[in-house]
Amino acid sequence: MAQGDDAFVEFDRVQKSYDGENLVVKDLNLSMPKGEFLTMLGPSGSGKTTCLMMLAGFETATHGDIRLKGKPINDIPPHKRGIGMVFQNYALFPHMTVAENLAFPLQVRKMSKDVQQQKVKRALDMVQMGTFAGRRPSQLSGGQQQRIALARALVFEPELVLMDEPLGALDKQLRETLQFEITDLAHKLGITVVYVTHDQTEALTMSDRVAVFEAGRIQQLATPSQLYEEPQNSFVAQFIGENNTLEGVVAEIRDDTCVVKLDSGETIDAVPVNVSKVGERTKVSIRPERVEVDTKKLGPNAHTLKAEVLEFIYMGDIFRTRLRVAGIDDFVIKTRNSPDQVKLTPGSTIDIGWLPRDCRALDA
Ligand SMILES: Nc1ncnc2c1ncn2[C@@H]1O[C@H](COP(=O)(O)OP(=O)(O)OP(=O)(O)O)[C@@H](O)[C@H]1O
Ligand SMILES: [Mg+2]
Repeated sequence: MAQGDDAFVEFDRVQKSYDGENLVVKDLNLSMPKGEFLTMLGPSGSGKTTCLMMLAGFETATHGDIRLKGKPINDIPPHKRGIGMVFQNYALFPHMTVAENLAFPLQVRKMSKDVQQQKVKRALDMVQMGTFAGRRPSQLSGGQQQRIALARALVFEPELVLMDEPLGALDKQLRETLQFEITDLAHKLGITVVYVTHDQTEALTMSDRVAVFEAGRIQQLATPSQLYEEPQNSFVAQFIGENNTLEGVVAEIRDDTCVVKLDSGETIDAVPVNVSKVGERTKVSIRPERVEVDTKKLGPNAHTLKAEVLEFIYMGDIFRTRLRVAGIDDFVIKTRNSPDQVKLTPGSTIDIGWLPRDCRALDA
């Protein structure tokens, strides 16, 4: 049941050091409502697993508090937190069959044999492993073992589930099926999920909110569309989706626009996200799909620049074209494959354009 705006999981100024010297988690603040699906996304070593381990109770925070339903979790031993877990290398019990592995958390909770059977069956069907109930883990592939680990974490319908790259070992198709199954089930059962991945597509498609980690800090915590449309800094802009970057110096700041003089000499308008004064360096960020080759479509406010076509890649539903623009030669645009779409020939010079609102001036 929803608890209004009461936080279900809270990290309050949490820091973590393993060696007493280097902080691998730095001043982490995070508050999750019940039922939220939150993903921690970030490069290797950015502190994602460490955060999950602290929440699960296998590591303690060096500073700050972690609270579950308002209570500091230091007081609750890991096995009493009612947390389901699927970790990167979460081993199944080798001497038990698949069905016995799944029944184990239910036995511990003293559920009747009937209920156990029914829940085990449902969990197995959920991960498309219904016919494997009698096998032992050693008789399963790595991906199948991971699906059983997933089923075992969900079988007792815990309030909170922590998942650390649970789909990493699976092929693309099964991954996508399970992404859908996991989010669907979590929402249906009202389970709160903290999910860890370094796959940005997975993070965007599965989550209510995503926390983008870098070097032990959350760089941005937002919904998938906010992260993609309104990245707050250049790390997030580069990490989420494809992005073109032009560098220059802030020439003027007005209320909701700034003027940037690019290193190549052109002057463009941008949304001032991380600029504070005239004269400072900035990176202007533009998504490939926001660049228009039919510049007449854009109206009078658009920017247009000359571009040289370097490479044209046919990708079926879209065309991906690499251009030389404003002195850089890795400017990418994406255009939809439609009958009226202009075909771009390498070597030719074209006009490209975009609206100032699609162009963001971020930290240098
Ligand atoms: N038990 C440990 N003892 C000492 N240092 C550790 C320990 N576990 C992790 N670290 C260090 O803490 C930092 C964060 O590690 P963590 O495992 O949280 O990263 P991660 O974001 O999960 O990375 P990945 O995507 O590779 O799994 C790394 O620099 C790592 O080397
Ligand atoms: Mg990890």
